[in-house]
Amino acid sequence: EKHATPYDAIGAEKLAVLVDEFYSRVGKHPDLIPIFPKDLTEVARKQKQFLTQYLGGPALYTEEHGHPMMRARHLPHEVTPRRAKAWLSCMSEAMDEVGLEERFREHFFSRLALTAKHMVNTPDDPQ
Ligand code: HEM
Repeated sequence: EKHATPYDAIGAEKLAVLVDEFYSRVGKHPDLIPIFPKDLTEVARKQKQFLTQYLGGPALYTEEHGHPMMRARHLPHEVTPRRAKAWLSCMSEAMDEVGLEERFREHFFSRLALTAKHMVNTPDDPQ
């Protein structure tokens, strides 16, 4: 018997709205604006694919882009501890906005927090 994945429980539609709400915040966050492209359409499309597989759904990201290697793919971008915090705050607000149920939220968010920490590749500016 196949158990339902978090992806099945959340659903593609809600995941897509979550990602759109997330990037609308990223696009306005002063710590994140400098490293993201102005047009976030393509990164949002890739993030929907990535989070689909991250949550146990079909491997959409890998099918189109190959192995995720997320840390390596972030190396060209200065991901500081401050930016990781900003990224997670945008995600937390997006989860509130879509009303992600508590039973998924806690586990999903704590996994993202670990992944975000793993993406950090540059120290904060001293000041
Ligand atoms: C791509 C920043 C964490 C998933 C990117 C890009 C930036 C970025 C600047 C490239 C945008 C572009 O020019 O196309 C950050 C920062 C993070 C962070 C500051 C803070 C820790 C994460 C986490 C995940 C993630 C935690 C997954 C759970 C992705 C994906 C892409 C991406 C899937 C697209 C990769 C591709 O081009 O195929 N991120 N990211 N990021 N990020 Fe992050």
